[in-house]
Amino acid sequence: MASWLLWLIVVFTIITVGKGMQNARQVCHPNDLKGLTSFKAGIHVDTSSRLAKWVGHGCCSWEGITCNETTGRVTGIRLPGFISTNDFVFQSQMRGLLSPSITLVSCLEVIDLGGLIGLAGRIPPSIGLRLPNLRKLYLYGNKLIGPVPDSIGKLTKLEELHLYENRLSGSLPSTMGNLKNLNQLLLYSNELAGTIPDAFTNLTNIVQMDLHSNILTGHIPERIGEMQVLEKLDLSKNLLTGKIPLSLANLNSISELYLDTNHLEGEIPFPSSFGQLSSLGFLRLDDNHLTGRMPASFGNMVSLQRVSLANNRFEGVIPSSLGNLSALKELYLSGNLLSGQIPESVGQLSQLIMFNVSHNQIQGPLPHELSSLENLQTLDLSFNHLNLTSFPQWLAELPSLSRIYCARCGIQGEIPDFLQATPSPIQELDLSSNHLTGSLPAWLGRLTQLYKLNFSRNSLVSRIPVSVRNLQYLGVLDLHSNKLTGPINNVFQIGNAFPDGSLTYIDLSDNYFSTGIVQAGVGSQTGIRYLNLSHNFLEGRVATTIGRLKSLQTLDLSCNKLGFNLPEALANVSSLEKLKLQKNHFTGRIPVGFLKLKRLKELDLSDNLLAGEIPAGKPLTDFPRSSYSGNKGLCGKPLSPCKVKGLLLVEEPLKPC
Ligand SMILES: *[C@@H]1O[C@H](CO)[C@@H](O)[C@H](O)[C@H]1NC(C)=O
Ligand SMILES: *[C@@H]1O[C@H](CO)[C@@H](O)[C@H](O)[C@H]1NC(C)=O
Ligand SMILES: *[C@@H]1O[C@H](CO)[C@@H](O)[C@H](O)[C@H]1NC(C)=O
Ligand SMILES: *[C@@H]1O[C@H](CO)[C@@H](O)[C@H](O)[C@H]1NC(C)=O
Ligand SMILES: *[C@@H]1O[C@H](CO)[C@@H](O)[C@H](O)[C@H]1NC(C)=O
Ligand SMILES: *[C@@H]1O[C@H](CO)[C@@H](O)[C@H](O)[C@H]1NC(C)=O
Ligand SMILES: *[C@@H]1O[C@H](CO)[C@@H](O)[C@H](O)[C@H]1NC(C)=O
Ligand SMILES: *[C@@H]1O[C@H](CO)[C@@H](O)[C@H](O)[C@H]1NC(C)=O
Repeated sequence: MASWLLWLIVVFTIITVGKGMQNARQVCHPNDLKGLTSFKAGIHVDTSSRLAKWVGHGCCSWEGITCNETTGRVTGIRLPGFISTNDFVFQSQMRGLLSPSITLVSCLEVIDLGGLIGLAGRIPPSIGLRLPNLRKLYLYGNKLIGPVPDSIGKLTKLEELHLYENRLSGSLPSTMGNLKNLNQLLLYSNELAGTIPDAFTNLTNIVQMDLHSNILTGHIPERIGEMQVLEKLDLSKNLLTGKIPLSLANLNSISELYLDTNHLEGEIPFPSSFGQLSSLGFLRLDDNHLTGRMPASFGNMVSLQRVSLANNRFEGVIPSSLGNLSALKELYLSGNLLSGQIPESVGQLSQLIMFNVSHNQIQGPLPHELSSLENLQTLDLSFNHLNLTSFPQWLAELPSLSRIYCARCGIQGEIPDFLQATPSPIQELDLSSNHLTGSLPAWLGRLTQLYKLNFSRNSLVSRIPVSVRNLQYLGVLDLHSNKLTGPINNVFQIGNAFPDGSLTYIDLSDNYFSTGIVQAGVGSQTGIRYLNLSHNFLEGRVATTIGRLKSLQTLDLSCNKLGFNLPEALANVSSLEKLKLQKNHFTGRIPVGFLKLKRLKELDLSDNLLAGEIPAGKPLTDFPRSSYSGNKGLCGKPLSPCKVKGLLLVEEPLKPC
């Protein structure tokens, strides 16, 4: 009897609970339904078509929605823009307004509407009052505007707040200091302004804080060092002022610290004792106004892998303790006032791949110990007080070195022959602003990996060797301000045997070149963006093939002896932004087609023999008079109007180059 009753109770219970759960699936809570349908109504484009399937009343079964099985309430909205399944990855978009009614879904724990690109509107101001259970809020990668609402400080269960890459503005609410459970705060790439609230130092569970690329001002809060578990702090690219807080040295879990591109001043305050910041792997302090010496204890931060102190006002010697940073791979010290010699201990940095000490006051000689840097790939010693007199052969013998920058190193004599046979093929070579004499060697053509060559500002006297045509990977060629002669056509045939040219930058200006311009545009190098042939002795006609340089942004042919009509083919080069043809012997009219050059920002046609009416319209009429002065008979806006039967108008004397 009793067991029969028990059986009945069990059956009854199963039926009622089962029914309740079925109901929960079929009809969701009216507030949840209202909140979600309002959200859907705010979106007018959904390239993923997920919302189109949100029909009926059973919102718990809708795509992207999760509910609590017991209460039947909606606890999660997960509709990220980036959809990745086993079979495909897909970047979807939603366009429309984020409905404030989403806060009706009051049991939400997770909102993921990140990376939808087109979600506009504001973060609902009442979010903190209405969604007390929220643990994760992802709205990154959208078009949200307005402030981070004050009420956010009420979300005491919040663990992850990802609002980066929006257009949020206003200041950071100090109420955020209450978010005791927050461990990821990612607000970078917005327009947040004002100071970092002192209250942020109460966020003691935070592991990652990224606020870079905003317009934050003021000081970094002194107590920030209390964030003991912080692993990554990125405050870069803001307008922060004041000193680096001493307390930062207490962040004993920190592995990434980025304070670069601010207005910070004063000295580097750490480490003051051994063991401080011993987890720090990545440190960027570049592009600030920091002063003083690099701390002698720098070498105590033994985990450092990448350090940038570039573009500050650090002075004094490079501390020899650096040699203890055995994990160091990249070291950027350029653009400071560092003096003395490079310490011998740098030679112990066996992992070092990149060493940039350019634009300092470092003196020679280079310590021979550097010859043990067997992993070094890039070395920039440019613009120091090195006065090396000759390029050290042992440097060229470093086994991994392929990018060598030694501009204004005081190097004399001819381009050293040993550079043709370095252990690692040369990719970038900058020996500009030295005292190199002699010729461009034919072996240059054997540097088949060469991407960048800068021999500018030397005293090289020769023709360009035919062998350069073999340089199929050459992208940047700067030979300006030498005494080079002959034709330039070899340059336009660089890599011609190969289908897609890689050349983007050619500067042969300020030499004694005489012919070859007719070759421009005949080869496969149609990707040239910068071409400067000014201050040479080029003569003759500019061939129409120049119109094939479809990517050209800057063309400077000024101060030559070029004649005949202006190259009409240029009208087809719609990418052109700077066109300098002044001080030549061009004749005839300005081609009407030049009106098609809508991106043109700088134009100089002065001091030629041009005549006739300046074609009326933008952009030609927007340039100043000086763009057209010193010609034979140009008229029309911006110069004086053309007279119907008029003869010569303004004429200014030709100025010599
Ligand atoms: C569902 O809600 C109940 C009651 O609020 C709660 O005890 C339970 O932990 C929740 N379940 C889940 C999986 O969150
Ligand atoms: C931060 O903590 C201090 C004490 O540790 C407290 O006085 C202050 O009110 C807290 N600020 C916030 C915003 O929680
Ligand atoms: C490197 O560290 C050792 C202790 O580990 C220390 O004795 C030595 O002085 C340091 N070297 C330099 C150049 O600071
Ligand atoms: C070295 O640093 C300077 C200044 O930061 C920079 O302009 C230059 O390109 C760097 N050199 C190399 C080889 O990257
Ligand atoms: C560079 O070194 C050479 C040879 O050591 C010396 O004659 C010359 O005066 C030095 N130049 C400068 C500018 O210090
Ligand atoms: C070549 O070096 C000079 C300085 O020596 C510099 O002004 C110029 O910008 C460099 N060229 C390129 C293409 O980087
Ligand atoms: C071209 O080179 C000349 C001489 O080297 C220089 O003065 C001029 O600024 C350069 N033109 C452009 C547009 O960069
Ligand atoms: C511009 O390009 C078009 C189509 O490629 C061509 O027909 C025309 O001749 C070109 N104009 C000039 C002035 O080269």
